[in-house]
Amino acid sequence: MSQGLVTMSYIAASILFILSLGGLSNQETARCGNLFGMIGMAIAIFATVASDAVTSYTILIIALLIGGFIGTKAAFQVEMTQMPELVAIMHSLVGLAAVFVGYANFIDPTASLAGVEKTIHEVEIYVGILIGAVTFSGSVVAFGKLSGRISGSPVLLPARHWLNLGLLLASIWLCFWFLEGAETGGGTFALLLMTLIALAFGVHMVMAIGGADMPVVVSMLNSYSGWAAAATGFMLSNDLLIVTGALVGSSGAILSYIMCRAMNRHFLSVIAGGFGTGTGSTGPAATVEGEVQAIDAAETAELLKEARNIMIIPGYGMAVAQAQHTVNEITRLLRSKGKTVRFGIHPVAGRMPGHMNVLLAEAKVPYDIVYEMDEINDDFPEVDVSIVIGANDIVNPSALDDPNSPIAGMPVLECWKGKNTIVLKRSMASGYAGVDNPLFVHDNTRMLFGDANDSLQAVLKALNA
Ligand code: TAP
Repeated sequence: MSQGLVTMSYIAASILFILSLGGLSNQETARCGNLFGMIGMAIAIFATVASDAVTSYTILIIALLIGGFIGTKAAFQVEMTQMPELVAIMHSLVGLAAVFVGYANFIDPTASLAGVEKTIHEVEIYVGILIGAVTFSGSVVAFGKLSGRISGSPVLLPARHWLNLGLLLASIWLCFWFLEGAETGGGTFALLLMTLIALAFGVHMVMAIGGADMPVVVSMLNSYSGWAAAATGFMLSNDLLIVTGALVGSSGAILSYIMCRAMNRHFLSVIAGGFGTGTGSTGPAATVEGEVQAIDAAETAELLKEARNIMIIPGYGMAVAQAQHTVNEITRLLRSKGKTVRFGIHPVAGRMPGHMNVLLAEAKVPYDIVYEMDEINDDFPEVDVSIVIGANDIVNPSALDDPNSPIAGMPVLECWKGKNTIVLKRSMASGYAGVDNPLFVHDNTRMLFGDANDSLQAVLKALNA
């Protein structure tokens, strides 16, 4: 394929990626956005494979087959609840690729650059490996935390901020050492040392972050993976990779900002591992005391029959129980009886951005009754019944009442201001942040214990009876 055609294809793919991002920003257009992304990626792969840059089709086809096989197997096998872990581990692969491409470029015997161009290329290699290594090790730890293989509690080393600063300064110093060494054909030791430092930094940064702040880390690593891809694009002189990496990097950065705002956190403080840790508090978090009042499915159905204004608050447990289809059936039934049913979605509900919206869309819940937290949080005093389905941290009043709580300051859905709240969960266990929830002992809260889907099936049966 001629270079002109490759460039044209890359421009078309870039436009499709931008349209894809635009489409994904809204539920109604998300499917279309996905389609644009898929077509763009197909064009990008085809143009790259057909370009002059490819020197060995055998290696390329083997790599495509291995990658395609792993991707297809993962897509079929991974449960919806494992998606966040999958995304984290995919980010780690982008980082690892940037590291490998960096080293391959460094040892490339055919490289013939000289003077300023050579120095710029060496800086690209250094920065690419640095971002790639941080992304790789950080994402592997995030994968461990999201899948429960590593504890969600923050690991705080003494003088950790000084340690981070030391690692940063060492990386800058090593960059100069590397550039000096590279002039005379050396620099390998400096590059290896920096890679180890970057790997250690990635592990340290994510280990220090407390459970409730993980959403910011997930979106931040998403952003890093984009910058790592952009750095790879510079190293390979591939314009499409630079544009795509920059799109992923900047959209991930915007998402991190939105997540921080949603959780009332400062981005830098989260990255420095100051939140979710109780730092800044003046004592231990308050303990929860009081009587839990249980309710059964038939009583829940009675409450719903009497209610006019109903709010459904889904959380991670809805994903675990795969209860979204039953939720949709109950919603349709209640709406057919003339009741107002709305969904309140917390920005960090579940384990990945938009987790609940994806599940509700899959179950075909109408988009126009699904509201963001900010849109409906003031409406709770008019709500007759709130049904909390497998949610915990996002409805925890201690975020507002208890300054010593690890989630203090995080906005939550204030369902306790409504007439009645019914919480569906299996036990009194805490949520992802590991914080006790006083909502469960409020006067107007009833607990419907059991798997959320089983409980909702029983409620549906009672409503139909
Ligand atoms: P959580 O606070 O994690 O609470 C989920 C609750 O669901 C648990 O208390 C659990 O209680 C219940 N549950 C689990 N399986 C269930 C089942 N089969 N049936 C019924 N209930 C079930 O979830 P949330 O309220 O959605 O809050 C999200 C948390 O995850 C926040 O702390 C957030 O910071 C964090 N996080 C979010 C993200 C993103 S990007 N959204 C990423 C990482 C972390 P039982 O065990 O008693 O049933």
